[in-house]
Amino acid sequence: MKKVFIVLSLCAVITACGGSSNSGGADSTSTATSTQTTVSAAKVAIDPAAPAAKLMAAADCYTCHKADVKVIGPAFADIAAKYPSTPANIDTLANKVIKGGKGNWGEVPMTPHPNIALADAKTIVTYILTLKR
Ligand code: HEC
Repeated sequence: MKKVFIVLSLCAVITACGGSSNSGGADSTSTATSTQTTVSAAKVAIDPAAPAAKLMAAADCYTCHKADVKVIGPAFADIAAKYPSTPANIDTLANKVIKGGKGNWGEVPMTPHPNIALADAKTIVTYILTLKR
């Protein structure tokens, strides 16, 4: 989340500087639009400092998954929208990450991850389910 604030405050500084150095109204309108884009994209950004994010970076999750867009696997935000964060769902999804499989999102399978411990898989899945749009 720190990163989001840095990005936002940078935008604010850029907007402020642009406004004082040139008096054109059109410029400030386009700056405002790009600021809004940054806000909505950052809403489901993965915090790289989160323990779960470090586990995912050490594994291969980001090859197939991104926070907000489908790659080979579904966007984490779509997974968070589909499953409420209950102990039963976290258990099922953690086991799915370890064992791999297909069928809930389509016919493309997720590769198994037998080297990820169940506790770590649960940490990851718990975090994924917080990544709501
Ligand atoms: C080779 C590509 C690939 C990799 C690597 C991958 N995934 Fe997936 N993932 C998928 C696909 C494809 C699906 C959809 C499976 C389905 O349709 O049931 C999926 C589904 C999921 C789901 C939802 C499962 C469900 O049943 O709804 C979770 C959670 C998930 N992945 C987490 C992870 C995590 C965590 C990692 C890293 C340890 C990871 N994935 C690595 C491709 C991948």
